[in-house]
Amino acid sequence: MRFTLQVWRQSGPESPGEFVEYEAADISADSSFLEMLDVVNERLSSSGQEPIHFDHDCREGICGACGLMINGHPHGPIAGITTCQLHMRHFSDGQRIIIEPWRAAAFPVIKDLVVDRTALDRIIAAGGYASVNTGGAPDANSLPVAKEDSERAMDAATCIGCGACVAACPNAAAQLFTAAKATHLALLPQGQAERQQRARAMVAQMEAEGFGYCTNHGECQAACPKGVSMDNIAFLNYDFRKAWLEALSSR
Ligand code: SF4
Ligand code: FES
Repeated sequence: MRFTLQVWRQSGPESPGEFVEYEAADISADSSFLEMLDVVNERLSSSGQEPIHFDHDCREGICGACGLMINGHPHGPIAGITTCQLHMRHFSDGQRIIIEPWRAAAFPVIKDLVVDRTALDRIIAAGGYASVNTGGAPDANSLPVAKEDSERAMDAATCIGCGACVAACPNAAAQLFTAAKATHLALLPQGQAERQQRARAMVAQMEAEGFGYCTNHGECQAACPKGVSMDNIAFLNYDFRKAWLEALSSR
């Protein structure tokens, strides 16, 4: 297969960026999107040009590193997969493909398609840790957790921190990510002790990082490769408001 790529090139955070056109020829339909970029980079390197910088790690859909905006879609046009799981057979031969980094003020471009997503790590860190002593494994297993709660917690915990929800959101909000991280603890007995303070601290950090506010567009849920539901946002909003009201009434 052959593709014409329009790739965002930017030499550093302060440099102006621009789209540069590349031909990707002799690409196997079975190769992944990242393998296609590998082939292009091999050719760029062997002709003395600088390869395209992009983030990746596991290439198995589990680490969240491979965030790319492909023809205006975070992780590409196929729902429910990461960029590393996207295969070139989903594109037409001869197609033009526009490749950009995640666009959000809280995700500054490091180089080309690589953005700094450490703001997401700081939101998790602001939530602190579960300080309840749950004992050893047998004790923890003896703690009853309703099946529905454990499954909802597990669904929230599938968030891989890729940031596609931020990139898809017209407000560059990080609500879906933050809600997933807060909710998977809030649904379990071990997460109850710090539940209110965790919600307040994570929302405060989200705002401090410069993410926008959620206005229920739903683009986040549509873009999420792990199917994290917006129900989690409602859950976090409930916890946040409760914590806020309790803090007000204790003044
Ligand atoms: S909620 Fe979904 S889109 Fe957002 S960071 Fe987690 S896995 Fe990625
Ligand atoms: S490289 Fe790990 S999810 Fe794509």
